[in-house]
Parts: sequence; structure tokens; C-alpha cells
Amino acid sequence: MDRILLVLAFEFILLSILSSSGLIQCTREDDDHDFVRSLDRGVLDLKKEKLSHFRIYWHDIVSGRNATSVRVVQPSNISATGFGIISMIDDPLTEGPQLSSKMVGRAQGFYALSSQEEIGLLMSMNFAFTQGKYNGSTITVLGRNIVFNKVREMPVIGGSGLFRFARGYVQARTHTFNLKTGDAIVEYSCYVLHY
Ligand SMILES: *[C@@H]1O[C@H](CO)[C@@H](O)[C@H](O)[C@H]1NC(C)=O
Ligand SMILES: *[C@@H]1O[C@H](CO)[C@@H](O)[C@H](O)[C@H]1NC(C)=O
Ligand SMILES: *[C@@H]1O[C@H](CO)[C@@H](O)[C@H](O)[C@H]1NC(C)=O
Repeated sequence: MDRILLVLAFEFILLSILSSSGLIQCTREDDDHDFVRSLDRGVLDLKKEKLSHFRIYWHDIVSGRNATSVRVVQPSNISATGFGIISMIDDPLTEGPQLSSKMVGRAQGFYALSSQEEIGLLMSMNFAFTQGKYNGSTITVLGRNIVFNKVREMPVIGGSGLFRFARGYVQARTHTFNLKTGDAIVEYSCYVLHY
């Protein structure tokens, strides 16, 4: 009896050694996730995270033949706050408040009127930059925009290219809003952490 126990114990120890050394394929649940592996940060050359700031102007043109904002969802019953309206945008981003100033990229995405109590938007857009070394890089802004507030803060939730691993926030301030046409120029002050 003692001998059997001894043999069993020996086999158990041997099995543990073999499986932990990888000689025996293990089918435990947590080993099913080995399509993910950890990398050293050096592989992606991630040295020091830096903070960048830039101020750009966002031109939402809803009127005229060259509109950059198109209403794509129109609720059958529109309330005073426009709840349910969705507009797709491809808005120019410029260095100065004039549309004729240097173009730095485009804001592509959509905004949706998402409040029943006030004029409030859900903004979901990529700032796709086209200038200099930032050409081809993007940041993604996703947030809540109560358009008649003086300053609206929205998170930067990611980025690509030079803005990989981006996080941060933007502060939007209306520069001009044309009540007649609905066209708006908004200053975006962007604070972005990235590598
Ligand atoms: C639309 O854009 C074209 C080309 O840039 C320009 O010539 C035209 O004047 C613009 N039209 C309006 C209504 O802004
Ligand atoms: C639209 O709104 C009006 C006024 O509030 C209401 O009487 C009507 O029932 C609504 N129609 C629909 C389809 O919800
Ligand atoms: C940005 O990149 C695109 C595609 O690579 C290129 O066609 C374009 O000329 C570049 N723009 C600037 C301003 O460098």
C-alpha cells in the first residue's frame, strides 16, 4: 500500500516537472490564450511619453453647395432640442479661424443630438492630419458637447501614426456661429499625451 502511494507521488511530481517545463502539452484553460504575448516596450521604441498641445479651427459648413456636414438621420418628430438628428461631417481643420488659413487636416465622423433637455451632441470624430510630419496621423475624439456652453471638454481616446497610444482631451470654444445658416467655426484646443 505504502509502495503504491510512493509510486503515485513520484508520478505526480514527475508530471508536474514535465508540464511546467513545457515537455508535456498542457490543455488547461489559461493556456488557451497564448495567441497573446507580452513585448518589451523597446520593441516599439516607446521611450518617453510627451505632451503636445495644438490649437486648430473646425469648420462645420451646413449651408451652400460646399457643405461639409450632411444630415443623415432625421427623426420624424423633431423636438426643440433636435434629439435624434445625426450629421456626418468631413470638416476642414485650419491653423487660423479663417477657412482660407493653412489647412492642417480634416475632422471626419459624425455628431448626434443626444439630449432631450438641451442642445447637446455626442461627437465621434477622427482628426486626420495632413500637414508635415503629422500627415497621415490621426487622433480620435469621442465626447459630449453642450454646444451653447462656453467651453466643452471632450476626451481624446486614441490615435494613430505619430499619435499612437494617444490620450488626452480637447476644449472646444465656439468662435463664430451663424444663426442664419447654421455654419459654425469652433476653436479646438487639444492636449495630447503620446510617444
Ligand atoms: C465651392 O467650392 C468651389 C471650389 O473650391 C468654389 O469655387 C465655390 O465658390 C464654392 N461655392 C460656395 C457656394 O461656397
Ligand atoms: C409628434 O409630436 C406631436 C406633438 O408633440 C404629437 O402630437 C404626435 O403624436 C407626435 N407624433 C409621433 C409619430 O410621435
Ligand atoms: C500627405 O500624404 C499623402 C499620402 O501619402 C500625399 O499624397 C500628400 O501629398 C501629403 N501631403 C502633404 C502636405 O505632405
